[in-house]
Amino acid sequence: MTTLPIYRKSSDVTSPNPHSAREYARDNSCDLVLDSAVQLAFAHRVRFTSGALDPANAALRDLFAADAAITSRRAIVLVDRGFADANRTLEQQLRAYFATHASAMPALTHFEVVTGGEDAKQDMRVVDRVIELVEQNKICRKSFVIAIGGGAMLDAVGFGAATAHRGVRLVRLPTTTLAQDDAAMGVKNGVNRFGKKNFVGAFAVPYAVLCDDALLATLPDAAFRAGFSEAVKIALLKDPAYFATLERDAVLIAARDMNAARPAIRRSAELHLRHIVDGGDPFEANEARPLDFGHWAAHRLEAMSAHAVSHGDAVALGLLLDCRYSNLKGWLSNADFARIRAVIAALGLPMRHPLFANHAALLAGADEFREHLGGKLTVTMLRGVGHGFEVHELDHDLVRRAAAEMA
Ligand SMILES: NC(=O)c1ccc[n+]([C@@H]2O[C@H](COP(=O)([O-])OP(=O)(O)OC[C@H]3O[C@@H](n4cnc5c(N)ncnc54)[C@H](O)[C@@H]3O)[C@@H](O)[C@H]2O)c1
Ligand SMILES: [Zn+2]
Repeated sequence: MTTLPIYRKSSDVTSPNPHSAREYARDNSCDLVLDSAVQLAFAHRVRFTSGALDPANAALRDLFAADAAITSRRAIVLVDRGFADANRTLEQQLRAYFATHASAMPALTHFEVVTGGEDAKQDMRVVDRVIELVEQNKICRKSFVIAIGGGAMLDAVGFGAATAHRGVRLVRLPTTTLAQDDAAMGVKNGVNRFGKKNFVGAFAVPYAVLCDDALLATLPDAAFRAGFSEAVKIALLKDPAYFATLERDAVLIAARDMNAARPAIRRSAELHLRHIVDGGDPFEANEARPLDFGHWAAHRLEAMSAHAVSHGDAVALGLLLDCRYSNLKGWLSNADFARIRAVIAALGLPMRHPLFANHAALLAGADEFREHLGGKLTVTMLRGVGHGFEVHELDHDLVRRAAAEMA
């Protein structure tokens, strides 16, 4: 941790925080000002493998290699019910893995299946259960909560892990395409309240993330495809060449050809991670949140549908809406808009939804989004593939027109 100098007089004002410096200069009725910048460095370990639960695969064991005292640590494993139901031998496999690598891993003290899917985020039950288990299993701040599941369950378990003891070590093993290509890279945890997405939560960097494409085998087709909306999103924002790859491989990806899906997932994960790590705003202090391209409407559609529309599907719909809006505004060419529509169609993602007819409820989402971000409304729009930019107001008539076409 680096702490910057303490500022005692207005003449000292070389603060890294111009706001506090200005305030001090204007009103020096304080006798002592201790404004400081606090900087923290975190390790964000993210690894990809295939077959992590095979004792011959060292990837899971090696996540713990940085801890010289690892055998004195404990670990509890929490598993998403949807995943556990489809993988009945998981507990035996994990116990065998921990036993094989006992000299280099924490002791596995508890295994439990918890609610998966968005239900995990609809109340505090999963969060509270994690906190209880941390207490019952004597998980200290150097011990581990290992979460195996989809993005929703990872968010809820991560919130529990981030708050018990003010933060115990969290290891994520994401089991959906969306969790592997986006959610598990994040440094955000949280659950929904008041019918609003992620209303309660905490920023916390996980101890490690291990993405294993073998864990995707049991994912239902619709959920498999849904995860690629986030891949399209990040390609549109950051990487035209990757977008072209998605165009080329979309049909194979939708058919679950892992030779096409695996590199697509990994590239998306890498681009999300690079933005979080190198983008200069990991804890989202700024108003701009480019990774939330298409999300103002997506989050609203999820809530309006009582989560019958999955996050991934909602993102596909939200992206299309904002791309059509960009197109109607004259920012995005007809040709680029046609390419985006085509890739979303080829991936088997939804392109219309009856809830788009409810314009008033949809538009209320923009205000909710602004409030969640803090400050003024900041929404990403598109000038072309790879060219996102920010706007601070939405033309409601044009949003209605774009939404009406998609209802
Ligand atoms: N923290 C972040 O930075 C971040 C980023 C993006 C999305 N998210 C959140 O992630 C959530 C969406 O996550 P998701 O798309 O992974 O969906 P999900 O977690 O809702 O899972 C979808 C369904 O698949 C089941 N499931 C999971 N893995 C399975 C498997 N391998 N086999 C069989 N069934 C399986 C789950 O039980 C659930 O029923 C949203 O709540 C979203 O807000 C968080
Ligand atoms: Zn998302």
